[in-house]
Amino acid sequence: MGQPEPHDLHLRAARLADAERLVELTTQLGYPAELSAIRRALTERAHMDCAVLVLERHGEVLGYADVGVVHTLHASPRGELFGLVVDERQRSAGLGARLVAAAEDWTRARGLTTLRVRSNVIRGRARAFYERLGYRTVKSQHVFERPLE
Ligand SMILES: CC(C)(COP(=O)(O)OP(=O)(O)OC[C@H]1O[C@@H](n2cnc3c(N)ncnc32)[C@H](O)[C@@H]1OP(=O)(O)O)[C@@H](O)C(=O)NCCC(=O)NCCS
Repeated sequence: MGQPEPHDLHLRAARLADAERLVELTTQLGYPAELSAIRRALTERAHMDCAVLVLERHGEVLGYADVGVVHTLHASPRGELFGLVVDERQRSAGLGARLVAAAEDWTRARGLTTLRVRSNVIRGRARAFYERLGYRTVKSQHVFERPLE
């Protein structure tokens, strides 16, 4: 996928066998996750236009990018980065940038020209990270939600 990897890094799509590690990383992202839910998501998403891309070294998954295509009536389809996390012991070594590049390659390979990411305003450092990679704020939103009985 795109640019060559440093020899010990390997980029691939997540497998069901990664589920336990993805639970740990998702929890580090701030969303405590259940193993069963991660397993179900990996299985269901196999039929959708989305992917969980993982970066591993010597068999250990160090981070992931969760990317997919978003379709709406009012705009052309685009890629969206739903989640991005690098193991907290492995940060600031360029792995996050590598995962974003992989998500961009994945999006481009589908003929799409835009990748969007929504980042919670509490993640101040993430903002600097995306801006360094050329991402610019295009709008700010309120996010509404209501539990449905
Ligand atoms: C944001 C994140 C994916 C970047 O991964 P990374 O491998 O550290 O990224 P890179 O090495 O390519 O770039 C490092 C830069 O990311 C930024 N950064 C953002 N959050 C950071 C964090 N929690 N720790 C370290 N660096 C962070 C800094 O600008 C850092 O630059 P510096 O090393 O000069 O301080 C990673 O820090 C992470 O998983 N953070 C927690 C989850 C998160 O915020 N995800 C984004 C959600 S939208």
